[in-house]
Amino acid sequence: GDVAVLVPAAGAGVRLGPGGPKALRQIGGEPLLVHAVRRIAAAPSVHTIVVAAPPGDAEAVRELLAPIAELIVVAGGATRQESVAAALAAVPPGPEIVLVHDAARALTPAILVEAVATAIRSGEDAAIPVLPVVDTIKEVSTDGVVLGTVDRSALRAVQTPQGFRRSVLTAAHAAAVDPLTDDAGLVEKQGVRVACVPGSEYALKITRPFDLALAEHLLNAENS
Ligand code: CTP
Ligand code: MG
Repeated sequence: GDVAVLVPAAGAGVRLGPGGPKALRQIGGEPLLVHAVRRIAAAPSVHTIVVAAPPGDAEAVRELLAPIAELIVVAGGATRQESVAAALAAVPPGPEIVLVHDAARALTPAILVEAVATAIRSGEDAAIPVLPVVDTIKEVSTDGVVLGTVDRSALRAVQTPQGFRRSVLTAAHAAAVDPLTDDAGLVEKQGVRVACVPGSEYALKITRPFDLALAEHLLNAENS
């Protein structure tokens, strides 16, 4: 394996509601982070996994994940970007391809990890999984009145894992000023070309209670 995967898992999960850090919330009796790491570890290209844990839970996360894969656990930061930066700083010398993958996308199949890694290995500096936008998208004023309908044909919903040549991601994080919600956004600012690969519906980001219930159902269907 020539790939390191950074797993930001330090978020509070505010939109999921009370119940502790999102990465430690459970589906099928196991934390989202366990599901995510198990699938990452199943991807043949993956050599190193670095998890950014909720600040107070790094030791517990280390114990939780030790049976699944050999990995590095660091304390995450106040923003996703800080968590990714902390994980990136802990990658040992070796891997020249770095993927960043949200713990919240717990059901992401290993094949998507491979597809993103393959895009970088075949020469892209950055590659992200995307899906077409299915809903009609409108721009709306702050007082809730429609300003117009956006042409969605060129729009894509973006998932993780996002893949990068290691030097490209390191440079983008070093140059970062304002926190962004994804890493491709940082490398775009550096003028780097970002390629798209087909995403997966299973890579949905578990954000709200409905998503958690959906993920639970998908997991049950998979195991029956
Ligand atoms: N994340 C992180 N460090 C942070 C914030 C987010 O590592 N300070 C991680 C989350 O754990 C998650 C991923 O980034 O795996 C995507 O973030 P999001 O879905 O927004 O998760 P939360 O920030 O936990 O959720 P919310 O915004 O609802 O609080
Ligand atoms: Mg968040």
